[in-house]
Amino acid sequence: MPLSKPRLAKDLNRRIPPSHRSDLAGVLIPEVELQKRIATMGRAIARDYAGRDVLVVSLLSGTVLFLADLLRRLPFPLRVDFLGVSSYGAGTESGNLVFNKELKLDVRGAHVLVVDDILDTGKTLRAVTDRIAALRPASIRTCVLLDKKERRVGTFEADYVGFRIPNLFVVGYGLDFAERYRNLPFVGVLKPEVYAPGPVQPKRGSA
Ligand code: XMP
Repeated sequence: MPLSKPRLAKDLNRRIPPSHRSDLAGVLIPEVELQKRIATMGRAIARDYAGRDVLVVSLLSGTVLFLADLLRRLPFPLRVDFLGVSSYGAGTESGNLVFNKELKLDVRGAHVLVVDDILDTGKTLRAVTDRIAALRPASIRTCVLLDKKERRVGTFEADYVGFRIPNLFVVGYGLDFAERYRNLPFVGVLKPEVYAPGPVQPKRGSA
């Protein structure tokens, strides 16, 4: 059970900025909702960690906007480091994990808070927490903005969860598809035809 109660995000708002109407099906979590929820998560984390030697470990690159907003809500001394994990698989499925950037800071004895954008099957966070545990921190907890719980393989749960979302491929607010859309200030849903294009239809009149 997460330490803070996640919000449920399930309604698609169709007010998509004109620049993205051709590839987004809707806005799942608007900017204002993200900021409200992150402020609440920050208060919960600050309450739990005040007075401890805290090391925030952020997974590149999907956390970029979430991390920047969350850190500003943590009003106590802490250190920040980055871990690079890539998943090589087909399309929108996570495949084999490869660590492509290691931690720089000393983890031993620190209270580690791992921050990720989205918890899906749980494969990434399970591998990351196992790797950090081997470095002998004082504790490890995990914090994710989004949780697609119905996709979980096994029993992994994050300690701090922003929003529970349905099984839709989401982009924006740091999340990408083929390295695009990270700069959107909201979490949007990609149209399936963008990530799973159908067979090319022959042009009328062509041979
Ligand atoms: P697992 O399955 O290991 O996945 O929990 C976590 C990683 O998979 C990526 N992921 C997504 N990325 N939209 C994205 O842009 C999504 O809907 C999505 N679902 C999973 C993401 O990199 C995450 O860290």
